[in-house]
Amino acid sequence: MKTQMRNLTLLLFLLLLFLLCSSVLSWKKEEFRNCNQTPFCKRARARNPGSCSLSARDIRIENGDLKAKLLPREDHQNPDQVHSKPLILSLSVNGDGILRLKIDEDPNSDPPKKRFEVPDVIVEEFDRKKLWLQRHSTEVDSSSSSKSSVVFLSDGYEAVLRHDPFEVYVREKGGKRVISLNSHGLFDFEQLKVKKQDDNGDDEDWEEKFRGHTDTRPFGSQSISFDVSFYGADFVYGIPEHATSLALKPTRGPGVEESEPYRLFNLDVFEYVHESPFGLYGSIPFMISHGKSRGTSGFFWLNSAEMQIDVLGAGWDAESGISLPSSQSRIDTFWMSEAGVVDAFFFIGPGPKDVARQYTSVTGMPSLPQLFATAYHQCRWNYRDEEDVENVDSKFDEHDIPYDVLWLDIDHTDGKRYFTWDRVLFPHPEEMQRKLSAKGRHMVTIVDPHIKRDDSYFLHKEASQKGYYVKDANGNVYDGWCWPGSSSYPDMLNPEIRSWWAEKFSFENYVGSTPSLYIWNDMNEPSVFNGPEVTMPRDALHHGGVEHREVHNAYGYYFHMATSDGLVKRGDGNDRPFVLSRAVFAGSQRIGAVWTGDNTAEWEHLRVSVPMILSLGLTGMSFSGADVGGFFGNPETELLVRWYQIGAFYPFFRAHAHHDTKRREPWLFGMALKYGVGCAAGVQLMSFTFITQVLVIMQNLERNTELIRDAIRMRYMLLPYFYTLFREANTTGVPVARPLWMEFPSDEATFINDEAFMVGNSLLVQGIYSERAKHVSVYLPGKESWYDLRTGAVYKGGMTHKLEVTEETVPAFQRAGTIIPRKDRFRRSSTQMVNDPYTLVIALNSSQKAEGELYIDDGRSFAFTKGAYIHRRFVFTDGKLMSLNLATSALGGAQFSSECVIERIILLGHSAVPKIALIEPDDKTAEIELGPLFLKSRRGNDFLTIRRPNLPVAGDWTIKIL
Ligand SMILES: *[C@@H]1O[C@H](CO)[C@@H](O)[C@H](O)[C@H]1NC(C)=O
Ligand SMILES: *[C@@H]1O[C@H](CO)[C@@H](O)[C@H](O)[C@H]1NC(C)=O
Repeated sequence: MKTQMRNLTLLLFLLLLFLLCSSVLSWKKEEFRNCNQTPFCKRARARNPGSCSLSARDIRIENGDLKAKLLPREDHQNPDQVHSKPLILSLSVNGDGILRLKIDEDPNSDPPKKRFEVPDVIVEEFDRKKLWLQRHSTEVDSSSSSKSSVVFLSDGYEAVLRHDPFEVYVREKGGKRVISLNSHGLFDFEQLKVKKQDDNGDDEDWEEKFRGHTDTRPFGSQSISFDVSFYGADFVYGIPEHATSLALKPTRGPGVEESEPYRLFNLDVFEYVHESPFGLYGSIPFMISHGKSRGTSGFFWLNSAEMQIDVLGAGWDAESGISLPSSQSRIDTFWMSEAGVVDAFFFIGPGPKDVARQYTSVTGMPSLPQLFATAYHQCRWNYRDEEDVENVDSKFDEHDIPYDVLWLDIDHTDGKRYFTWDRVLFPHPEEMQRKLSAKGRHMVTIVDPHIKRDDSYFLHKEASQKGYYVKDANGNVYDGWCWPGSSSYPDMLNPEIRSWWAEKFSFENYVGSTPSLYIWNDMNEPSVFNGPEVTMPRDALHHGGVEHREVHNAYGYYFHMATSDGLVKRGDGNDRPFVLSRAVFAGSQRIGAVWTGDNTAEWEHLRVSVPMILSLGLTGMSFSGADVGGFFGNPETELLVRWYQIGAFYPFFRAHAHHDTKRREPWLFGMALKYGVGCAAGVQLMSFTFITQVLVIMQNLERNTELIRDAIRMRYMLLPYFYTLFREANTTGVPVARPLWMEFPSDEATFINDEAFMVGNSLLVQGIYSERAKHVSVYLPGKESWYDLRTGAVYKGGMTHKLEVTEETVPAFQRAGTIIPRKDRFRRSSTQMVNDPYTLVIALNSSQKAEGELYIDDGRSFAFTKGAYIHRRFVFTDGKLMSLNLATSALGGAQFSSECVIERIILLGHSAVPKIALIEPDDKTAEIELGPLFLKSRRGNDFLTIRRPNLPVAGDWTIKIL
């Protein structure tokens, strides 16, 4: 009896504990639909392989494309009694070796309306590179006697359309397949319908209900689904945004724990969980495959409706009787979308960087941010008032911590009316910005898409009068609930409305803004607190009769675009915009930066930030980061410090916190502990142990501040390297932060590694994701060595090292064979470092060689697009370092010059001990000494250091080591 009672109490206690813990993780799962509650997804998932009976007919070349009609097989046998409306298929080829497949309803068969095609994503240059196909050849497969039409794709590759059943694939000339579509016959395309009324005058019942919301679905079901196979693939990646691993796990198949498909539906998910295929704030329907045998390929579906994607585990099709003609490893996937058309792009690679270039040749190159935006950002919801801002700003100086941007969240406005200021809290916004600007700093304010429905608010008045809001299904202005209360949403799909919105950012219109003010777009999924799944109803209406369901995933993209255009237009039009957005779509890389939304101060969220950022980078969004410290909750000291240490290597580096959290500016952290001791003090009043405890904690406090300062300073030292990488992304599409396999594509050990990443081709960073870790395993790829970034210690490549963890840093290494440019003097902001000299860190490889680049421009204007920049290539070989020009003069002759010099060259891994360096062409000499890797190093070895060679960073020179 007694034990039973005890067990019961224990049980109750555990239950209570469970409830307490689960209330911390308060993801409201039931607020969002799963696949089973989403009719198109449920139906599609239930279909069997081979169920598609469409075949291609009427195959011809028209306007340089291969065209065909898709009709069900039974219609062929009775061509006179065709009862299905055909679909029109077209295949076109782009000069870069990209195959584009479009499938839509036949305009000649009178569909009730034109289905939505996402505008303003594909860049003009892409269309200009279209290859006009002249002919197709027909071949017959001997085993199945099925016919196919073959067209040229690029040197070594062909595109094939098999007729019956229809299938599209890319192959190496006459040989191995690369990517295919509908090989498993899962293709399905629901054509639009019009409601017929029955005798009682009732409509057909097409409505869908979810949690009290009704979707009228005026055109019935209009979903599309198909299977896509990647050949020679070991893993697939991409399709952000999900809080999950970099290599996408199978969602169904034998031996696979069945899960939801990866969902692409932009949602404001409150307190999201890690390890979930659930859709978050952004959607980029682009998947990349990679494997040891064939390399890399990619598949992009330009479609902005809700999408669900299954990754199918090997053997999922065992019972289908379908066997694909390939002995290579293969990954099959299944794509489902609620609406839109098929507009799909096949990328052949074969290397990871080729796929990045191919994808960005369709959707655009990432823009080059201003230099300040690549530095450290300080944000909090909210910096209360001008005094708070001034305080935080001066504390950074007091503690010698550089920062570039101070952010203001929603409460700086007059009642969440964007473009206004709370005049009590922020009476002098211009002066406030000017004070920051005097230190080379900038400010960012938030502007969200929900407009307060207040007749005295100028923005609402104008938008209402002009009819610029999104309408509900009945054609009335849509009225939703968000931060300001009752709100409406400008219809950003309409270019006219976007340009009206952009005008609002002029200095005259945005009263209180100055040239050092930039913008943050939040809640642009769009978030609607009282809408279905916290967003806008799918049957809401946009410009041109487009239903919200069709454009949902791109709404935030157009909003981001209009805002960024506004910053370009203001002033002299020669200031690069900076706009951070929470919602993204394919192409967002041209517009601005993204962060991974409202994460939580937990170790697991620190860990998942890395694969999230890498997935965004793989799909074009190079400029991305996660909130350092975690948005929700209070991080423990150690977690915050570790987060800064890895955050310093995120492409976008910002600390942010929810307003319910304790203040956590870098110099404050540890305060919580002091209060803890304060309680203990009541018990042990003024005892000796108490005093020593306080002393220990005070010391820790300073230590924590010091550790965070070191992490931020590391970022500032590396800014020249980061900026060079941002330019590389701008010209090649290759992201700043890269999975290891992007640099080491044939090293299988890297394929699922998402705890470490490369910053450019020269730096490898490994996070520490657990409390009080003593050791960490770091895999260093390749045959060459790696140098510890701080100590210069050498580690062998191609193996896993078990390293002791230090509190000073997360493990970070420079790859042998590379040269990294740095700036080692600490200032208040990046802007104040502009004229500082450079340090080059040369890490030699086994052949005593190394190479690196440095890109410099004015850091703010568009002059670089006309050639106003410096781009150098440094080559170390045969005991000589040369600086070579990489800038092309053909761009339009604009000039950029810099008086900066190289003040120090550090050589790692040099086999001899030379004494002197000879500089050509001047025949000057510079001394070679032993020096530390970092000026302030407390420990570590000394390395060959060429002191004060004072070489012009812009000039050609050679320096010989004797
Ligand atoms: C680089 O970024 C700028 C905007 O910052 C953009 O205009 C340009 O198209 C991008 N790409 C290249 C190759 O310059
Ligand atoms: C050493 O580095 C140079 C420059 O990066 C590179 O060209 C060369 O292939 C490397 N050598 C080895 C053996 O990796």
